[in-house]
Parts: sequence; structure tokens; C-alpha cells
Amino acid sequence: MAKGSLNFTCTACGAAHGKWAGRCDACGAWNSIIEEAPLSAGPGARALGAARGRRVALTTLATAEPPPPRAGSGLEELDRVLGGGLVPASATLVGGDPGIGKSTLLLQAAASFARRGLKCLYVTGEESSAQVRMRAQRLGLADAPVALAAETGLRDILTTLDAERPDFVIVDSIQTMWADTVEAAPGSVSQVRAAAHELISFAKKRGTAVVLVGHVTKDGQIAGPRVVEHMVDTVLYFEGERGHQFRILRAVKNRFGPADEIGVFEMTGTGLAEIANPSALFLSERGRASPGSVVFAGMEGTRPVLTEIQALVAASPLGTPRRTVVGLDGGRLSTILAVLEARCGIPFAGQDVFLNVAGGMRVSEPAADLAVAAALLSAREDIALPPDMVIFGEISLSGALRPVGQTENRLKEAQKLGFSQAVAPEGSKTDDSGAIQVRKMPDLTTVVGEMFAAG
Ligand code: TYD
Ligand code: MG
Repeated sequence: MAKGSLNFTCTACGAAHGKWAGRCDACGAWNSIIEEAPLSAGPGARALGAARGRRVALTTLATAEPPPPRAGSGLEELDRVLGGGLVPASATLVGGDPGIGKSTLLLQAAASFARRGLKCLYVTGEESSAQVRMRAQRLGLADAPVALAAETGLRDILTTLDAERPDFVIVDSIQTMWADTVEAAPGSVSQVRAAAHELISFAKKRGTAVVLVGHVTKDGQIAGPRVVEHMVDTVLYFEGERGHQFRILRAVKNRFGPADEIGVFEMTGTGLAEIANPSALFLSERGRASPGSVVFAGMEGTRPVLTEIQALVAASPLGTPRRTVVGLDGGRLSTILAVLEARCGIPFAGQDVFLNVAGGMRVSEPAADLAVAAALLSAREDIALPPDMVIFGEISLSGALRPVGQTENRLKEAQKLGFSQAVAPEGSKTDDSGAIQVRKMPDLTTVVGEMFAAG
């Protein structure tokens, strides 16, 4: 391949192209291809095969070394998402919408770690030192021994890090960092990639835990090439709905722990407060039982979380009825509507369907299928379900119900919150302790017949 011929890169998928195009062949994204300076081989570079390299020392898989010591922050919600605490020599990317609270969370984390004796350094490229100090004051963290630097030049930052050797570094944000070795504006793909590479190399070499803050674009991806996500050990997303105080820290990738854990926080006037019992929070706004409202007993990683799923079904004046979904997958709704129509003979054509997870939570488990179907049926038939009932189960295309994992954890959480009955797929493993009455249903038709017969 001619040297330097591949100098156009798609910012969405990272694919390399020989020339510019309006649309990326690899991922189909529009206007995502940008020109990049090719990596030029230095003078005297030879083809890889031509000169012999150094022989690399080989090791075995067996190790006598203990697992890496983890540093707990004392913020339990954060530690759980990290897989038990911060791992030395690791790189973590924290992504999220502007204003969601990333800087607040990380300043609180830095203060916690610092108070526990770790040497912490907070590098901000977005705010002035005075702004960060003001925030720390407001959060009551002004006395925490966190070193602060307002700087964007990567060379100076690396020199400082080399001299200071901190245990924990926060770089807020990776998009503001500027490497003078790359001829591109800060925030561009090549700058972000170069800065991330340098900082991650530093983490690995010096045993520092580095956290990079990343902005999220309109379509919810961390700006810059996806490669940054591949480069780091852990990717966390900080999410939340505007208008809600709840913030959810979600691990989407974790080389040191489970990837589907969440931590729940509430944004208050004095920073982020941990929410130890999210179910109670998500159900706190629930009124009395009303048609279309169903409580779903879900799992987020190892933790059961109960949420309320609300549906509204109304006659539509439109030729193509509306399907509006918040907090759930729209494709999943279409599937469930199709199964209800084809297997149970319940049509939703000509009706607008609105579906919502209360409290700004996002549910992605297939186990929510049955709760969604029940909410739709409850709304359509105008039948309220008992207020002390939780529902979960996966629906297959045949209309049969499939048991889901961790049934007992779901039931235990429901019981803890005062629920006394549950609807679950036949074959679900329950311990029959009798504390919560479980009605097991084989398929959707049975659910319709037994629970929504009046329609
Ligand atoms: P910030 O951490 O600056 O968000 P990000 O770094 O993700 O852009 O959070 C800013 C928002 O949080 C801002 O709208 C104000 C709000 N906030 C509070 O409600 N309470 C607080 O104690 C703090 C520090 C911020
Ligand atoms: Mg910020």
C-alpha cells in the first residue's frame, strides 16, 4: 500500500478511506469523514521484515502475583460501577452530555480519594482554576488535598505528571487537550486520539489511574473516534434526563469488572448524592394504581431495580398512528405490538401508543417485554392492575413467555418494597417461600385471558 495513502478517517467508526466521501462505506454515516495527517515513517525506517527486531520475552498465564489492589473512593455507587474500586495503571473514559454532572462527579471522586490518602491531580481544560475552586467550595470539598491545574498543553501536562507521579489523574476533558505533535485543532479526531494515547501510555508506564472525561455528541456517542473507547480499559456513561434529578453512571465496558453495573445519584444543590435504594426512588412518584401503569422488576447488573412502565393507548386521527417511546427500545415495542396482534388477536392499528419509563430510567432488558405488554393491555382495556404486583418475563415471537435470569433477586427486591404478588413466565425458578405470590404464565394468550378478560 502506498505510504500515506489512507489519510481520510471516518469519525463515527474509525474506518480508513483513500479519498474523501460524503458517506462512509463502512458504517453508512454521513459527513463523518475527515482528513488526517498520515503517520509518516521516520527517516531510516525499513520494511518490518527487512531488519530483525528484538526478541520479545515470553511468559506464562500462571501468575503468583496478587490481583491489582483497588482503591475504594468511599462513594459506593461509583466503586461498584468501577468493579470494586479504582485499579492502578488503568485508563477510564467517562462520557456524558454537557451539564449532566461529569465534572461534579469527578471532583467529588478526587476529593474522596485524596481524603483517603491518594495523591490526586485534577487537570481542567474547560474551566479556570477559580471556577473549579468555587465548585469545590459549593460542594464542601475545599479542604480536600487535590492538586489542581488549568492547562490544555499535553506536553506540559505530561511533564508535570512525570514529576508529580500522582496516583489518580482526572483530565477534564480529552477534547480540550492539545498535543503539539499533531497538526490539527483540539477536539479533532487526530488530537483526541493522540492525547488519549499519550495519557493512557503514561498510566500504564507509571501505574497512575487516569480518568478521561469525554463529551458526547448529539447522537449519544463520545465525540472523536470510537477508537478512544477501544483504547481505554473502562468506559462509563453518565446519563440522566433533563428535568429529573436522577443521574445514572453506567459501565458499558470494563476490563476489571462486570460491564452492566449502574450507580445511581441525585443532583442536589450541594453536589451528587448517592442513592442506595434506586427502586424506592423510581417508584416514589407513583400514584395509586391506574390503567396503563405496571411495575417492572428489572436487574441492572447485579442489582435489582424496580421501575414503573406507563402506557397510553388512544384512538389516532392519523393514517400512520404514533408510536412514542421514552426509556425503552422502539423496535422492541413494535415487536411486542406485532406479537399481541398476531398471537392474541389484539390489534393496535388505528391507535396511538405512548410508552414511558417513569423517573427518567432507561430499560434495555428483554425481561421488560411482559411488563410492556401488560402496560399496553392495561391501557387499551382500561383495566388497572393491582398496585402490589410486579411483572417480568421475555416474550418470544410465538407469544410464549421465557423465564429470565435472577428471578429470585427480582422477587426479593419486590418483596422488600412491599409488593405481594408477581407475574412471571412458566418455568421461572422461585423458592416458593410463599412470601410473594407468583403467578406463572406459559404464554401471552394466557396473560390476556386471565388478567385482561373483561376486554
Ligand atoms: P457539571 O459537573 O459542570 O457537568 P458536566 O461536567 O457534565 O458538563 O454540572 C453542571 C450542572 O450541575 C449545572 O447545570 C449545575 C448542576 N449542579 C448542581 O445542581 N449542584 C451542584 O452542587 C453542582 C456543582 C452543579
Ligand atoms: Mg464539565
